[in-house]
Order: sequence, then structure tokens, then C-alpha cells
Amino acid sequence: MRGLPLFFLLLPSVFSLDILMYVNVIGKSHLQFADKLIGVLNKEGHNVDVIMGMLNSIVSLKGSYGARNLVTVQFPGGESPWGSVADHLNNPFVETSNWNPFNMGFTKFIETADQLCDLILDSSSVSSLLSSHHYDVALLTGYDFCPFALAHHYKISKVISYVPTPACHIQNYYGGLPELPLYENMILDAMHGDRSHFHRRVIESLRTMKDRYIHYTAYSSINEKLRARFGENFPDVREIAKNISIDFTNSHPLLEEPKPISLRLRYIGGIGLPTPKPLNKELNDILNLSKKGNLIFSFGTQIDADKISDELQKVFINTFKRFPEYNFLWKFDGKTAMNSSNIFNMKWLPQTDLLYDSRVVAFISHMGLNSFTETSFAGVPVVSIPLFADQLHNARRATSLGTGIMVRKSEITEENLFNALEKILYDEKYLLRANEISTMVSALPDTPQRIFLEGIEFAAKFENLSPHYRLAGANHHFFIQTGWDVASFLTLLFLLLAITTFKLTLLILRNVTVRILWKRKVD
Ligand SMILES: *[C@@H]1O[C@H](CO)[C@@H](O)[C@H](O)[C@H]1NC(C)=O
Ligand SMILES: *[C@@H]1O[C@H](CO)[C@@H](O)[C@H](O)[C@H]1NC(C)=O
Ligand SMILES: *[C@@H]1O[C@H](CO)[C@@H](O)[C@H](O)[C@H]1NC(C)=O
Repeated sequence: MRGLPLFFLLLPSVFSLDILMYVNVIGKSHLQFADKLIGVLNKEGHNVDVIMGMLNSIVSLKGSYGARNLVTVQFPGGESPWGSVADHLNNPFVETSNWNPFNMGFTKFIETADQLCDLILDSSSVSSLLSSHHYDVALLTGYDFCPFALAHHYKISKVISYVPTPACHIQNYYGGLPELPLYENMILDAMHGDRSHFHRRVIESLRTMKDRYIHYTAYSSINEKLRARFGENFPDVREIAKNISIDFTNSHPLLEEPKPISLRLRYIGGIGLPTPKPLNKELNDILNLSKKGNLIFSFGTQIDADKISDELQKVFINTFKRFPEYNFLWKFDGKTAMNSSNIFNMKWLPQTDLLYDSRVVAFISHMGLNSFTETSFAGVPVVSIPLFADQLHNARRATSLGTGIMVRKSEITEENLFNALEKILYDEKYLLRANEISTMVSALPDTPQRIFLEGIEFAAKFENLSPHYRLAGANHHFFIQTGWDVASFLTLLFLLLAITTFKLTLLILRNVTVRILWKRKVD
């Protein structure tokens, strides 16, 4: 008899779970990623209720995304302040300063997320959804504390975080990962120079401290906000974040930078990647026109054609003209005359289908994580022009894998672009490496779907999973995690010892000299 409940517990996927999902809609790609996750869960028979926080009002929703219940929370009039303050979207080609304390994109993000949090907590649709259902597990975007506080308030004890990017700071901080200077920690706000250089590690350590400082100032204000609303006994949001069971990130284990991670952090990059479909006749005909091959060129879903200045357009056009045997399919506006027979201005590109077509030989990309993953799976080498967020990190990954060449957005000149394209198209090693990576990712024995589903189903069963995976670092100050306290203590100790030894030697020498002199005098 005693074995029976356990038996039921161990049966996989017999029970369908009721899952609450929170999606912070920061961009279109975030919505697409959530859509894929819901698809995977639905296919397994789980019910997913979804709350969408419309942080970015440029994104519009279509349909129900497979949600059993869908609640959207948006700013009054659908106008998110994020639209007007987000420099990265308004001036995507301007290199932002990482140092000016008044120009911290991340602070603006936190402020907007804070305002959205009020709307979520005020929303009657949210409260009626959450008070009328019991959820087995909550799956929440991990960019800010709000969804975790919401889950805590509604007594959902099993909580999982996810992000459509590489791991974010809340996942790193509260999983207890040490932020060591040798590794890229804060992927959303970093210059990503070569960390084998000492000076770079010094700079990146200072940046890490800056990010921690922003974080420390941010959580106290949300704590105050929550306590004003729910009473003084509402716990510190950091304590709630420490109790996350599992953190999912969209990184792929073979593509992400090798670095120290914890078992709480799970890589599901490549999950729900679309399978390529045959191209339509028009595209088929276009691809057949070129002598040597085709390149596709896209800045992703967030950058409209009007953000690409006339001068910049000319740089691209003039460079592409210098490769007449190749055709360039550019996702632009579908109408502006490019005045060149080898450039095709497309309103939209079926990116996956094209990447898997052997007539497409290279990709010019902003390197959003989906594009990076897709091109890696398809085995297509890439010229990366990263614009913001994690794109620089992804572009550097492709460079270090040997499948890509990067052109920084502030250095887009005919010369630089020409050199990058020349290498990608004429030096075979990029293609060979891209093919090798593609073979490796498809030969990997584990799948992101399995990691995701089994993680969710396991976490849904057990109340106290977090202490098993959380690293001790989560309970300690940043200086302790990174060993700064010990290093400072030892430095001081050695300094003290050195000074004492020096003084002592001086004293002895002086005594000895005085004695010798005195002896001589006496003699
Ligand atoms: C975190 O989990 C522990 C049990 O592992 C529990 O005692 C504690 O109350 C939880 N804290 C919060 C803020 O939920
Ligand atoms: C394109 O070329 C391929 C051979 O490279 C041929 O098999 C195919 O029929 C052509 N397609 C079109 C639409 O002309
Ligand atoms: C193409 O040529 C037309 C006419 O000369 C010109 O007005 C237009 O600016 C050109 N387009 C580009 C993208 O250079």
C-alpha cells in the first residue's frame, strides 16, 4: 500500500499540470520564445494560463498562444514608457556609453518593470485568475522580481524562472553563481573584450560592481512597494528569488561560453526551433539567379527600415555591389529601390527555410539569440552586426566558435564590411567550422525539449527543491562570492607583515650599526 502513491508520483506525464506562466513581453522574440514553450507544454498535455506583461508596446498580440486563459496587462493607452526611453530601439546604431551613470539602459528597464508591476498587482483580471485557480507550478520570466512576488502572494510555492536570452542577473545572483572576472557575467550590459587581458578583467570587475549596485538599489524600492501593499510581513524579494527551483535559459550547451554554472541553471537553447519548410516559387526563382550563392541579411524583428539611415543603406548597397556573383536578400521594407541587380529588398524573409537551403551560403545578422542558434543549427557562417542586449555576447560566441566575423555597429564602413564578407565567402574555414558545429548540435544526445519538460515535471512534484541546487553564494555578499574578502584580508596581512619585517630589519640594522660605531669609538 505504501508504495502506491510513490508509484503514481513516478509515472511521467500521466497527470497534466496546471501551470501559471508569466511573460515579460520585452520584444517580439520574447513572445515567440514563450509561444514555443507553451507549445511544448501543451503537446505534453499540460494546461498553461498565461499573463503577458506588455513592457514593450510596439509588440502586438495575435491569438491566444495556446494559453488556456490569457490575461494581458498593458500600460494605459497601450503606451509603455519603455518605448520612449529605450535608446537601444530608438537609436540602435549608436554605441551607448557603459559608464555614464545617467545613461544606464538597465535602470530604465527596472523603472519600467516597476511601473508595470503596479499595473499587474492592480489588475482585477490577474487577481481573479490567480485566486480562482490552483497551480502546480509557476513558470516566470526572470528579468525582474515582480512575477516572483506575485507567485508568492498567491501561494504558488513551486516556481521556475526562464529567459529567452542567455542567463540573466536574477538567475545568476540568486542561484548563487560567483561572478568571476574571467567570464562574461552580465550579458546584457557588457563590452565583452578579451578577458584573458588583465586590464579587461579589472574593467569588467568594476562593471560587475556597478551592476550589483544598480540591483541593490532596485530591490529595496520593490520591497517597499510590496510591503506597502501586502503588509510588513511580506518577505524580502531576494528570499523569494532564492527559492526558485530551476532556471531555464535559451543558451545552447555547445554554443554558450563554457563557464562555471550550477545545476539550477538549465540550457534549453534550440527548443521548439522551427523545422524548415520548402520555399515558395518566388524565392526559389530568386535563389536560382545567383552564380555562386545567396546571402540573407536581417536586423531581426525589432529594427524597422526607418532606423537604418540613408548613409548606412548606401554603405551596405555599395559593399554588396562589389560581390556581383552573389545575391543579397535583405529584409528591409520591400519597396525602396536598391538600384543594384544583386540586392533583393524583401519585406519579410522565411529565415529558417532560407538558412537550410544549400543555395544560401552566408548570413548577415544582428545576432539575436534565435538567429545565432538557427544559423548554428543550419551550419551557415555569419557576419555579425550586433546592436544591443545579448547580441554582442552572441556575436562574440560565433567569433570564438570560428563560424562568424563581427563588425561593430559603430564601425560599419565599406572597408570593414567588405573585409568581413570577403573572409566569410572566400575563406573556406568558416563554412567548414559552421558545418562541424551543425553536425555536433544535431548529434547531441540530449534534447532541450526533454530538459525543459522533465525539469518542469520534476519541480512540480517537490516543494523543497531549491536548497538542492542553490549554491552557497546566493546567501552571501558579492565580495564573499568572488573571494574579495579573503583576498583583501590576505593582502592586508602580507602588507602588515612586510611593513613589520621592514621596520624590524631597520631597527636591527640601526642597533647593529650603533653598536659597531660605539665599539669603534671605544676601541
Ligand atoms: C524559502 O523556502 C524555505 C524552505 O526551503 C522556506 O522555509 C522559506 O519560508 C521560503 N522563503 C520564502 C520567502 O518563500
Ligand atoms: C533551381 O535550380 C535547381 C538546380 O540547382 C533546380 O533543380 C530547380 O528546378 C530550379 N528551380 C527553379 C524554380 O527554377
Ligand atoms: C536609387 O536611385 C534613385 C534614382 O536615381 C534614387 O532616388 C534613390 O535614392 C536610389 N536608392 C538608393 C537606395 O540609393
